[in-house]
Amino acid sequence: MRNYIVTTQELARHVQRRSESFSFFSFVLVLTQRFLNLRDDTMQTLRANADGYDGFHGLLPEMRSVTKNLLRPGPDLDELLGAQMDAFTYTLRKAAAGGAHSGKLLAWLGQTFFLANARSFYGPENPFASEPELLDAFIDWEGGLLELVVSPAPWLTARKACAGREKLVAAMQRFFDSGRHQQASRLVQERTETSKKFGLSNAEIARSELMLLFAVTANAMPVAFWMLCHAFTDPNLLAALRKQIADRAVSADGNTRYISAAALKRACPLLVSTYRETLRVSANLASVRFVREDIWVADQYLLKKGAIVQVAGGQVHHEKEIWGADADVFRADRFMEEAAAAARAEGEHDQQQEDSGTEPRDGEKKTERAVPRPKNVPAASFRAFGGGMVICPGRHFAVMELIGFVATVLLAFDISETDGSALLLPEKNNCKLPLGSMKPVKDPRVTIQPRQGMEYLKWDLIL
Ligand code: HEM
Repeated sequence: MRNYIVTTQELARHVQRRSESFSFFSFVLVLTQRFLNLRDDTMQTLRANADGYDGFHGLLPEMRSVTKNLLRPGPDLDELLGAQMDAFTYTLRKAAAGGAHSGKLLAWLGQTFFLANARSFYGPENPFASEPELLDAFIDWEGGLLELVVSPAPWLTARKACAGREKLVAAMQRFFDSGRHQQASRLVQERTETSKKFGLSNAEIARSELMLLFAVTANAMPVAFWMLCHAFTDPNLLAALRKQIADRAVSADGNTRYISAAALKRACPLLVSTYRETLRVSANLASVRFVREDIWVADQYLLKKGAIVQVAGGQVHHEKEIWGADADVFRADRFMEEAAAAARAEGEHDQQQEDSGTEPRDGEKKTERAVPRPKNVPAASFRAFGGGMVICPGRHFAVMELIGFVATVLLAFDISETDGSALLLPEKNNCKLPLGSMKPVKDPRVTIQPRQGMEYLKWDLIL
């Protein structure tokens, strides 16, 4: 099959503009079937009007609408985020009470995010609360993604991944059969109802809903990893982040310190910018589409019907003509207004600002404002959440959970190598299929311990 790879933002923009000529789901459903091993009749239901080009009918267009509506900013998202913040608070307090702890950083984050997401999305009686060993099954399944997708006989060559998946499916089916999903988030409940409306059995819902679990956890956890690694390997950045967060997003009541995720997003531009820069350098996802009809792109390239086109996010994120000569360098303040770096150097820390491109309030200087993209960088150049017709509906959830979690860890803990020396930046694994954010070549063993002199404090992450 012909395969076109788009490596520049200019062409990505052209492809994005002609979204209707490409199909996301014809491609993704092929992967989904291999990843989940869904039955043929389920696949047929999923394929019907998958991209929604024939109007609003079909399981996938309805599912997309439910998902998008419940994850957009508003009371449903706030409820989900509130539960996520509570789950993080519980885990981080337990970690703080345990004193110094050594272990693998990515594995610790994986467990923390996975159990918190399971609680917030699937409710207090989620399958993982009673069977935490299912996390190993998830790791086996997720770790075998590539083999499951490319192997002609995964049941032979990817046994561990298949066994992990089947354990998860069985646990999820017990969850749906027993009606425990009625205590889950509205998102999970409405998604389940939508699948039922289209005739899917509990067994097939259990299987297909694993995709949501994958989408929720697969990217957030490595992004948290890289944010922490960048902060703890750069003492100046660590100090600036800690100061900004403590000054602008923390309130005290006795020994309890409340960290407000909303205040972090509104008033801590360096943290928001660090988050976006981390996505730029580590979320090198490829947007993969089938070409639905012969189409000229930028009046230059003829893409033939039936071929695959991939927008290589990693390449576009490192284009020097767009991002500047330092495109390959991690620069925490890249997503702040231009004057920000100079302002910080002069010790100016007192401006309030909004992120997401909203204007500063009256009288506030424009410096120190987080922006969706640096000046003169076109929208199609930032591809961490996809682009065109398929944009991650979880991005509003992701930013809040990630800045909230990372800020709490930065204030409450120190992270070092196990011999006490400063953390070294792990090497990124560039060789993996770009279906999720990059992971390190080797998961580093680190020591995590409550910050000296602050052991008595109780941290509470709130929305
Ligand atoms: C930093 C973390 C995340 C990143 C980098 C990310 C990235 C992406 C990307 C790039 C896509 C589109 C794939 C494509 O264009 O080919 C996508 C889709 C999706 N993401 Fe995320 N995501 C993140 C977190 C989340 C979270 C937390 C959720 C749920 C709360 C979520 C739910 C989804 C769903 C349901 C889809 C499928 C969209 C559809 O079917 O139209 N993601 N994500």
